Amino acid sequence: SSSIRLAVIPGDGIGQEVVAEGLKVLAAVLPEGVKLETKEYDLGARRWHATGETLPDAELEQLKEHDAILLGAVGDPSVPSGVLERGLLLKLRFAFDHHVNLRPAKLYPNTASPLASDPVIDFVVVREGTEGPYVGNGGSLRTGTEHEVATEVSLNTAFGIERVVRDAYARAQARPRRKLTLVHKNNVLVHAGHLWKNIFDRVGREYPEVTTDYLHVDAATIFFVTQPERFDVIVTDNLFGDILTDLAAAVTGGIGLAASGNINPSGAFPPMFEPVHGSAPDIAGQAKADPTATVLSVAMLLQHLGYAEEAARIEAAVTADLAERTGPRATHEIGDAIAARVSA
Ligand code: NAD
Ligand code: IPM
Ligand code: MN
Repeated sequence: SSSIRLAVIPGDGIGQEVVAEGLKVLAAVLPEGVKLETKEYDLGARRWHATGETLPDAELEQLKEHDAILLGAVGDPSVPSGVLERGLLLKLRFAFDHHVNLRPAKLYPNTASPLASDPVIDFVVVREGTEGPYVGNGGSLRTGTEHEVATEVSLNTAFGIERVVRDAYARAQARPRRKLTLVHKNNVLVHAGHLWKNIFDRVGREYPEVTTDYLHVDAATIFFVTQPERFDVIVTDNLFGDILTDLAAAVTGGIGLAASGNINPSGAFPPMFEPVHGSAPDIAGQAKADPTATVLSVAMLLQHLGYAEEAARIEAAVTADLAERTGPRATHEIGDAIAARVSA
């Protein structure tokens, strides 16, 4: 019999609420023979206020001993912006070299998209996860004066670009439409932009069956709204990918449905699955959060660990649940409904 050792980081705000529902569905979908061992980590705003710690190295080491991590969200208005986002979430992504940040965008049948037309939306964003402007390479000069200067340098390495571009081509090759779009801004960000484009074109010669396209990021936001059906797989840098995937969520029924995985394809470190959204302080503690994004992140987790049938059952349960939605439901009601469907 098999087992799953899962580290759970509920984190802050609605992270706590949605992770409870994700675990509920996970427990309901797993067959008897699979042993689920979860270990919860108390990380986030509460811990930081109590001890000043964000992610101590000892816990980082323990997290390595798991098959995967499920994370809710981090960030709280009572903590200076960036402390938990950088000190916990980005520390994990960087330490585990999660260079493939996989963010599917799919419009489920009968789900309300704010778009006027009724487009087919089924694409995946392969967001680079370890480089770009996220590396923390910057600083302030003449702080507090009227001549203050701040820099935030975007780091792009040929190694880092090539590995994520290769991953994206392989994913595009495996999908029926076999189309890959590079999104950047190489008309202005010429140094990084041309490095991305040159590597994209060079690796593309190894994938003659994959149709390629290039869009500047500003134009890409137009097409996300006016022609989302043109996308199949998108590869892009860390910051563009962050922004584009909130927009992708909005056009596919809302941020409460968008799932993601942070993956190091070498398998050297455990992958981490999490909803795309944040801790939503505006609705935290009110049972208003939609846990579907977390539930779909659990499906991605299962798919990644080789439980394809269980992942498909969650997808089917979510599809059925979305098709029947009418009025608003509490967070746990949505979790209960999906859990009932996967165990039926
Ligand atoms: P957010 O995603 O938390 O919220 C944006 C809007 O979407 C809010 O109106 C919120 O109520 C709504 N929303 C989010 N998730 C929802 C859900 N599941 N169901 C229904 N509505 C939902 O983004 P923000 O307001 O920019 O950030 C809040 C905090 O979360 C900040 O501290 C930010 O740094 C952090 N954050 C963390 C993560 C993460 O942990 N992965 C991601 C994004 C933001
Ligand atoms: C996300 C979040 C994070 C990011 C922040 C909280 C560090 O917005 O997961 O999309 O920018 O990657
Ligand atoms: Mn984001």
